[in-house]
Amino acid sequence: MTGQPDVTIPVPRRCPFAPPPEYQQLREQAPVARLTMASGRTAWVLTRHADIRAVLADPRFSSDRSHPGFPAPQQGQELASGFKFSLISMDPPEHGPARRGVAGEFTARRMQALQPQVQQLVHTHLDAMLAGPRPADLVQALALPVPSLVICGLLGVPYADHEFFQTRSAVLLRGRVPVNDRIQAGVDLMTYLDELVARREKDPTDDLIGRQLKAGTIEHGDLVSLALLLLIAGHETTANMISLSALALIENPAARRAIRDDPARTPGAVEELLRYFTITDLTLFRVALADIEVGGQLIRAGEPVISLSLAGNHDPEAFADPGRLDIGRDARPHLAFGFGPHQCLGQNLARMELQVVLDTLLRRVPDLNLAVRFEDLQFKDDAFVYGARELPVTW
Ligand code: HEM
Repeated sequence: MTGQPDVTIPVPRRCPFAPPPEYQQLREQAPVARLTMASGRTAWVLTRHADIRAVLADPRFSSDRSHPGFPAPQQGQELASGFKFSLISMDPPEHGPARRGVAGEFTARRMQALQPQVQQLVHTHLDAMLAGPRPADLVQALALPVPSLVICGLLGVPYADHEFFQTRSAVLLRGRVPVNDRIQAGVDLMTYLDELVARREKDPTDDLIGRQLKAGTIEHGDLVSLALLLLIAGHETTANMISLSALALIENPAARRAIRDDPARTPGAVEELLRYFTITDLTLFRVALADIEVGGQLIRAGEPVISLSLAGNHDPEAFADPGRLDIGRDARPHLAFGFGPHQCLGQNLARMELQVVLDTLLRRVPDLNLAVRFEDLQFKDDAFVYGARELPVTW
């Protein structure tokens, strides 16, 4: 292919507020590009909103992480694919029934009923932060504990073990990490949840794990994998979105005022923040099961495909002036939660948590500010889920 930019995947973000410039180059010059990954293997890489939607909606692109053609951007990742990742790695015909078996736990109505509890948690954590010393790290004070407590409550996982599962989840989601560390983190978490599920089998509880056991439709090992997926996906993603959103609103006083003065704007602002940051840019991996044309390019059976959702969400064909954070725009249908049959199962929960946290934070801490220079902040450039490592704030 001529004129194709020389880009290796993954491309680190240099700034939290913009996609890497290579994404635009790719979209303009080679929107379906065969690129080398850091692992040394090649993959088809998509950067247009429409192409990404087409691939994610097409069941001929498999999510099976044990398929030899499945993308492994970093070296050693393929070794970690031996873990069972539950829904996220399933194809038809298994995926649909397995997803329906748990989807009832995450309906909009269920999440609405959970809202007062989340509100209370946010107040309690803000009370503690405001009563404590300045500066505070917003990640540890609010962004990480709130979604962790919520998913623990839903699953029936003791929050007292949060340090254990938070550190290991972070290792699993990091890109550049020694293979053995990744495997150890996975084994630790699986062992922990295996024991937890075994305890619940003897002594049933009224939580997601208990209800799955009561329904009797899922095997022990599959329930352990499902619990692992929900535990990891349920806290790390939302936590990163909370701290990045707070940062964006600190840096955009007009948007911050607009939301504070009119909370009816919050749901729209949350969608826009999800689009703008697309923290799960490097998660939409598939492998083609047939020869399929995408955007005029033939992708052959067995070839890996990476959908760069951050690029898709900054495609000017889909969103006008995509680099601008515009909380008044209609940011749907963005790709931050993916698209098609695997679209995020926890999106109603994530939306509700983000709305409650942002509304309450802006109302209770109207003069929230960074306690360090913006340039000194550190971000998770090497992780599958992007975010700020810490967010020192003052008020
Ligand atoms: C801002 C927060 C979140 C973001 C950006 C996010 C993003 C995503 C994305 C992009 C996918 C699609 C993966 C694919 O197609 O291969 C996904 C799937 C999934 N997410 Fe989320 N997620 C978030 C929060 C959550 C929460 C809170 C939970 C759990 C309670 C959750 C549970 C899941 C599950 C179980 C799947 C797999 C669904 C399936 O394969 O059928 N996510 N998420």
